[in-house]
Amino acid sequence: MSLSTREIIEIAQKHLMGNIIRFDMAITHGQGMKLWDADGNEYIDFLGGVATCALGYAPEIIVKTIAEQAARVIHISNYFYSEPMVRLAALLTSSSGLGKAFFCNSGAEANEAAIKLARKYSHDLHGPGRFGIITIQGSFHGRTMATISATGQDKVKEGFEPLLPGFTHVPYGDVSALEKAVTAETCAIMMEPVLGEGGVIVPPPDYLPAVADLCQKKGLLLVLDEIQTGLGRTGQPYAFQHYGIKPHIVTLAKALGGGVATGAMLAVDEVASHLTPGSHSTTVGGAPLAMAVGLAMVETILQGDFLRNINETGLYFRQRLEGLAADLGSGLAKSVRGQGLLLALELTQPSLPVVVELMKLGFLANSTAGTVLRFAPPLIVTKAEVDLLMPALQKAIETVYP
Ligand SMILES: Cc1ncc(COP(=O)(O)O)c(C=O)c1O
Repeated sequence: MSLSTREIIEIAQKHLMGNIIRFDMAITHGQGMKLWDADGNEYIDFLGGVATCALGYAPEIIVKTIAEQAARVIHISNYFYSEPMVRLAALLTSSSGLGKAFFCNSGAEANEAAIKLARKYSHDLHGPGRFGIITIQGSFHGRTMATISATGQDKVKEGFEPLLPGFTHVPYGDVSALEKAVTAETCAIMMEPVLGEGGVIVPPPDYLPAVADLCQKKGLLLVLDEIQTGLGRTGQPYAFQHYGIKPHIVTLAKALGGGVATGAMLAVDEVASHLTPGSHSTTVGGAPLAMAVGLAMVETILQGDFLRNINETGLYFRQRLEGLAADLGSGLAKSVRGQGLLLALELTQPSLPVVVELMKLGFLANSTAGTVLRFAPPLIVTKAEVDLLMPALQKAIETVYP
């Protein structure tokens, strides 16, 4: 396979649907923190497949796991158990404190399962009519019909109406808005512990505990979408563990498979038991290949040294971003925020042109929420790589906004 970028784009324009906006770049391979494009250009990647390639590119443990598991068996069917599946379920439930796991193929599918479980639990306990779920303005939960209904951004919904009924959206970080939105029809509150696509917004430290209290008081389920924040990204195995709370349902994907399509829903036993035999399923979810990869990913990430690197490098990266923001001044830099290795520099100007300029300098990052530069590098990133990024980032911003 040796097509040039131009040749690849020509074929793409003829044969791919145009729903996904891509840069004019085709990637051929990667190693560690680096990616190479079809024209031989090298990039240091601070996007990590949008928080997915948590161990970087071609990590030895995952390459070996895939080869060995593929030679043994890739997929069976969900009529049978497999050892990788039960071992991964045991690891996820013991590390999260939530009693049971269900496996699927993507983040949206994990959230679909969570929405179904929340409704089913409420239906079993309270009968029909109590199916409302409160989510957050600016949130992102996926692209299926239920998850665009849950998502708090109009742009993902336009033209796809009618949406699934029962979703209301309230501002993030505002407990009284949540309280006011609860009605006799509400069964759950669903949110990301940090708004990812919404611009890396970290709530005040007392917010999630107050939300958990509210759920307790009103008999609502707390569903946390940890698809972006889960599995080490924020410096804890799960972001909710920063706050000493226990949600009823947690969804995972992204880092769970490191790029192999995988998702999971975890739930406390009392709630999980309402997904009764035959009530929900998927053909390929939980297949041995993805489960073996998930096990290797999670075992690696949950090691103490690994989590320590996330916290140390995350803190260093954040400080460097704060330094840059101070250099740029408030006319250009609005704020630096994030948790662990999910970080953002918000500009006063559109961030996309900076991402494009940064690419020319050999670095990948992400533009989200219009003016936000988001960084979600592989969790193996080092301070030395942060040091390489920072002057390039400053140059890119100053080139675009002189
Ligand atoms: C918080 C969150 N939830 C859900 C999703 C959807 O996951 P997927 O794209 O795997 O369906 C994403 C993807 O970016 C996400 O960031």
